[in-house]
Amino acid sequence: MSRSNSASEFMKYNYGEDRLCLEREELAFWERQRRCGDDCDLKMARDLPDDTPQFILRLQREFEERATAFSFAGSGGMVLDAGCGNGELLIAALEMGMAKENGPRFIGMDFSANMLGRARFRTSGDPRAAFLQGSITSLPFVDQSFDWVVSSGVLTCLASPQSMAEALQEFNRVLRPGGGLVVDFFNRLSHYTLARKYLFGERIVPPEYLSFSEFQNQLENAGFQIEEHLGFDFKLCQGYLFMSRYRPVVDPAYLQERISQLLEKRIVPLWPKLSLFGYRIYVRCKKI
Ligand SMILES: C[S@@+](CC[C@H](N)C(=O)[O-])C[C@H]1O[C@@H](n2cnc3c(N)ncnc32)[C@H](O)[C@@H]1O
Repeated sequence: MSRSNSASEFMKYNYGEDRLCLEREELAFWERQRRCGDDCDLKMARDLPDDTPQFILRLQREFEERATAFSFAGSGGMVLDAGCGNGELLIAALEMGMAKENGPRFIGMDFSANMLGRARFRTSGDPRAAFLQGSITSLPFVDQSFDWVVSSGVLTCLASPQSMAEALQEFNRVLRPGGGLVVDFFNRLSHYTLARKYLFGERIVPPEYLSFSEFQNQLENAGFQIEEHLGFDFKLCQGYLFMSRYRPVVDPAYLQERISQLLEKRIVPLWPKLSLFGYRIYVRCKKI
């Protein structure tokens, strides 16, 4: 399929006037979040229910560490965390010593004043970080002001493919030539997504769900070249097994988390192509 064909195929999901409505709903959701405390920050950032078991939170923290390492590795100069939420990844990157020079090097930006306030509070006193409110579809920065942009778990929140295209253009605009971009998407071709679509009749549409090649086309159209990708989450399913009546005997959720971790940590590094079966895929690319 040619690039222009696949782009118009992608754009057929035109949400028209619903787009503004969906954007307002998204903002209202993040503004409503009122929980606090360390576990709660994690639950808030990942939209996990209050009764999430401790072992899931532990595994989630491992994921955060690995996602942070992948997202900020190789970064330097001025770094933008676009849609930083309550600062989970940004704080982990600061703790890992990834802001190398003095002065505010990490700029956290989010459209929710509530989430941004939480991020600011959690990093208060750290001179390496500064925060600003704004939307990723219209960034409040002049051209070429960053060396690195990370936007984790945000493109998937956007209301339409058009918004995603705008956001990628904006990332390109604020990056210096040769600058790095790290973004992620939910893989519409993972076994879990396919099961949800075909067994449970769920609506699996862009920009939340894409295939790797669709995402690659979007990035290339916006002037980026993919350098590396990393797949996470090889579980068979998410919420459904939590409801298993066999849970008191053997907790299937625990077993599948362990198997997924084994794949992520031991098998995928040996066969990187397996990354493409992950439910969530992070992509590191360069502005060309
Ligand atoms: C799932 S959280 C991810 C937060 C953080 N990047 C992380 O990985 O921990 C999604 C965040 O994106 C923000 N967001 C959603 N749409 C946005 C937009 N158009 N512009 C800026 N932020 C947005 C939400 O307010 C929320 O804080």
